[in-house]
Amino acid sequence: MTTPVTASARPAPLTRDDIPGWFFRLDREAFAHLLSTQSAAGVTGDLLELGSYLGRSAVLLGDHLREGERLTVCDLFDSDADDDENAAEMAMSYRRTLTRSAFEANYLAFHPALPEIVQAPTSVLADGRIPAGSCRFVHVDASHLYEHVAGDITVARAALRPDGLIALDDYRSEHTPGVSAAVWEAVFTGGLHPVLLTPMKFYGTWGDPAAARQVLLERDWRAEGYTVDEDTIAGARVLRLNYEVKSPAQPARRSASRSLALDLLPPVATRATRRVLRTLRDRRANGPAA
Ligand SMILES: C[S@@+](CC[C@H](N)C(=O)[O-])C[C@H]1O[C@@H](n2cnc3c(N)ncnc32)[C@H](O)[C@@H]1O
Repeated sequence: MTTPVTASARPAPLTRDDIPGWFFRLDREAFAHLLSTQSAAGVTGDLLELGSYLGRSAVLLGDHLREGERLTVCDLFDSDADDDENAAEMAMSYRRTLTRSAFEANYLAFHPALPEIVQAPTSVLADGRIPAGSCRFVHVDASHLYEHVAGDITVARAALRPDGLIALDDYRSEHTPGVSAAVWEAVFTGGLHPVLLTPMKFYGTWGDPAAARQVLLERDWRAEGYTVDEDTIAGARVLRLNYEVKSPAQPARRSASRSLALDLLPPVATRATRRVLRTLRDRRANGPAA
């Protein structure tokens, strides 16, 4: 019998990839690009994350804090959810591994001080504790239930400065229709402009989407192995960024479809998949073990 690795037994992460979570290369690059170009352009403001789990995305947000800026994260961590559906989500996906102290240990492995932590349902943020217009970037990645995500989007809108950016996770996953509903409702009835779509996240603004799109187009994503496409949704132009799928004629590099598959699997499955792939590769290189 194997003993599951609990949060308290987990060794301190050595790299950001050692932190379990669902924040992968493509979106890491998109976050880093958007946040650093904001700073380079003199755009200042706080950062806000709704749903942090063990800190994988929060650590990157912390990397981009500039003098005088504050990162606030809001997560239930070990607290109870307010309703049964949210409690079921927590039990299914997070309870076994998630504690606030594990988040804190992971964050402190990469930064000298903790962010502002709100350990509560994200709905508490509707009380105005995040000053209106104070944020330049908000990452929404908490509950997947429609009512909660719709509330999170309202909180984000109030928190963001006019040209601020919102990133919404799981806007198109099969198992999260409530997120899709809330996101597209915000687009069609709430004035949210889509800017960028990746396989995992929707990026938008209530400000000028053309300016945000231009910032993305200034980087040569294709040279770095990504695809960039442009679509029109009800008259609004939006970029799509994805991993480039290499043809089988170029087997030497890790294929983009394999990258994407590894990125989309939950962390435990990803580790198991990598182990199998490593074994197969070693066998091909060395022949079967004696
Ligand atoms: C998908 S995980 C976040 C992943 C993290 N952003 C990352 O990139 O690794 C979702 C998080 O939302 C939290 N959560 C779920 N429902 C919530 C709610 N109603 N209020 C606050 N946090 C919630 C869970 O505890 C979990 O940590």
